[in-house]
Amino acid sequence: MPKPEKLGLTILGLETSCDETAASVVRRADDGTVTVLSSIIGTQFEQHAPFGGVVPEIAARAHVEAIDAIAAEAMRASGLSFADLDGVAATAGPGLVGGVMVGLAFGKAVALARDVPLVAVNHLEGHAVSARLGADIPYPFLLLLVSGGHCQLLEVAGVGACTRLGTTIDDAAGEAFDKIAKSLGLPYPGGPALEKLATTGDPSKFELPRALLGRKDCDFSFSGLKTAAARQAEKITDEQSRADLAAAVQAAIARQLSERTERAMKLYKTSHPDQPLRFVVAGGVAANGAVKAALRKNCDDNGFSFDAPPLVYCTDNAAMIALAGAERLALGLFDDLDAVARPRWPLDEAAALSNPSNSFGRKGAKA
Ligand code: KG4
Ligand code: ZN
Repeated sequence: MPKPEKLGLTILGLETSCDETAASVVRRADDGTVTVLSSIIGTQFEQHAPFGGVVPEIAARAHVEAIDAIAAEAMRASGLSFADLDGVAATAGPGLVGGVMVGLAFGKAVALARDVPLVAVNHLEGHAVSARLGADIPYPFLLLLVSGGHCQLLEVAGVGACTRLGTTIDDAAGEAFDKIAKSLGLPYPGGPALEKLATTGDPSKFELPRALLGRKDCDFSFSGLKTAAARQAEKITDEQSRADLAAAVQAAIARQLSERTERAMKLYKTSHPDQPLRFVVAGGVAANGAVKAALRKNCDDNGFSFDAPPLVYCTDNAAMIALAGAERLALGLFDDLDAVARPRWPLDEAAALSNPSNSFGRKGAKA
């Protein structure tokens, strides 16, 4: 249990759900003030690059090889020792389960050895709190979570209290960036490379399809765009057209995210008539300038405040896992040492169960 003589909670966070091995020490004061004492991220880009995407078996092995050194480095950089920890928080899903098991097992070992509580953190809850690493953003807020595996609009009422307003019915936005980047011959990870190429392109040179026209809900779809862009990419022979197509793809993704967000804002206003209107975008795609600009405009038009995590906390990191763990522990929530690694783990379990089109097979993007 948290040590009563200490002010606030100091947590070691561990993240291994995809292709980053990350560890971080975060202190959360009793008044909610957050200090990131260290945040170490080891990427596996080089191991996966030859395959053009993340290979689960390679990822799991790379996490095993890296986790000891990354965690030790996070402790060293924080200036603290294991005896100073009040708890350990490890991502327990959703994600590539071989990797998730590595971080979770490491977290359990620390919890057992140091006699501190373990918090098994939902990776998406980590993204949901990530903007709180850089600014004081009180609950509730409307969240657009856009990453390589997820694309969801959620009402976040508090710790672990999320209601899903919309999700993708096929690919996630980051997945669309990555796959289209690949058809444009760009290196993995594709999102940042595509954004760079798009800076010299003219988005009006290509007509791309708009998804789910006629539907009034907040769901997303990117598979039609992916196919159309791949067809166009096959025909391209010059550099300028590649840049134009990249710019058109980025604009199409930003437009869809912004259109659905606008709908969600209207719903949120109705369900929170007396609350301050706050909007947060999180996840790797929140690093994209065009996406952020479109969402900022949504906020200006609809009277919402706009927040995004500092750039380093947009993509996967362990500081967000440590903070999610600290927020849970502050409420007395922690887990048994037999907590399991979960490849799928929706934030809003009720919504995932009641909407079968988003909960089977590859659909629903891990959530
Ligand atoms: O949050 P994240 O690190 O991992 C997941 O939880 O999925 O997100 C990674 C995703 C990748 O698809 C990557 O291409 C995308 O975020 N991404 C970007 C940018 N930076 C990262 N997409 C578009 N523009 C960027 N600048
Ligand atoms: Zn993530």
